[in-house]
Parts: sequence; C-alpha cells; structure tokens
Amino acid sequence: MLLGFLTLFSLALAQSGPQLYQQNCAFCHGENGQGRVGAFPPLAAHTTELIKTPEGRAHLINTLLFGMQGPVRVKGNTYNGVMPAFGQFTDEQIANVLNYVLNAWGNDKLLPRDHRPITPAEVANARSVNGSRPTPQQVGSNRTRINVP
Ligand code: HEC
Repeated sequence: MLLGFLTLFSLALAQSGPQLYQQNCAFCHGENGQGRVGAFPPLAAHTTELIKTPEGRAHLINTLLFGMQGPVRVKGNTYNGVMPAFGQFTDEQIANVLNYVLNAWGNDKLLPRDHRPITPAEVANARSVNGSRPTPQQVGSNRTRINVP
C-alpha cells in the first residue's frame, strides 16, 4: 500500500514541470533559467518575450519537439548551439515543462494578460503537422523571423 503510494507519487513527480526542468534542462539553461552567455540562451525573462509574438507559441513547442540549431540572437548575445529534441516526452510532459518555464523565476509577472497555458492537445497537433517533422535547422531558420530583444 505504502509502496503503491510511493510509486504513484514518483510517477506524478516525473511528470511535473519543475522536476522535468531540473532533470532535463537545468544542466544547460541553468537552475534559474539564467542560461550561459554565448552558450545557452536564458529562458527567464526571454520565453515571455517569445510567447508575445504571433509565432512564438509554435516556436516554443517546436523547439522542444524537434530541437533547434542555427544562429540566434538573444538579449544582444549570439548563440549558435544545438538544442536537443525532446520528442520522446509525452504531450503532457512537454506542456508541463513549458508551462513551468513560462511561470518560473518571475516569468509569471511578465506574461501577457491574455496568456493561456500550453495544452497537451497543442503539442499533439504540432507533432503531427502534415506528418512531417521539421529538422532542428528548420526550427532555427524559422526562428530568425521572430523579433524579440
Ligand atoms: C545540451 C544543452 C541543452 C539542453 C539540455 C536543453 N537546451 Fe534548450 N537550448 C540549448 C541551446 C544551445 C539553444 C539555442 C539553439 C541555437 O543556437 O539555435 C536552446 C534553445 C532553447 C529554446 C529556444 C530559445 C529561443 O530564443 O529560440 C527554448 C525555449 C529552450 N531551449 C528550452 C529548453 C527546455 C525547456 C529544455 C529542457 C526540456 C532544454 N531547453 C534543454 C541547449 C539546451
């Protein structure tokens, strides 16, 4: 009974945004989403800028599903690294980790007023657009059309 409870508890934890972030993203983007200048773009006070643009929502989801590669400028610094794809995550895990990133570290205060959380259905939809998956390079080149500071 206790064991069953503990198993359920750890499964729930493995789905949770904070846990997914610390185990899969913090290594590069930093425990507080601060990134590392020139190597890994910050997510704090940055993903909130992306989400305000018309293409930003799709870009966030695509970056997680398909990865991203190619030069990108964020807050005056250039990054040209490789963001690994997390397509092995479930739709719910991708939504959870993105919603965590969009609300952690004070990001919640920077979200647009009409912001709606990312849903697993949106992720599922992005996964199967025309049955074709963009390459990390395509995600990177689409990103050049998004203007954020
Ligand atoms: C191995 C290091 C690494 C890991 C692990 C990693 N990222 Fe990234 N991430 C990067 C790099 C490098 C870029 C920029 C890619 C480029 O230069 O094109 C990036 C880009 C991004 C972007 C897009 C930023 C923009 O301005 O377009 C988001 C969002 C993001 N990562 C979120 C995450 C999340 C969430 C996780 C965990 C599930 C994660 N990353 C795990 C290295 C990493």
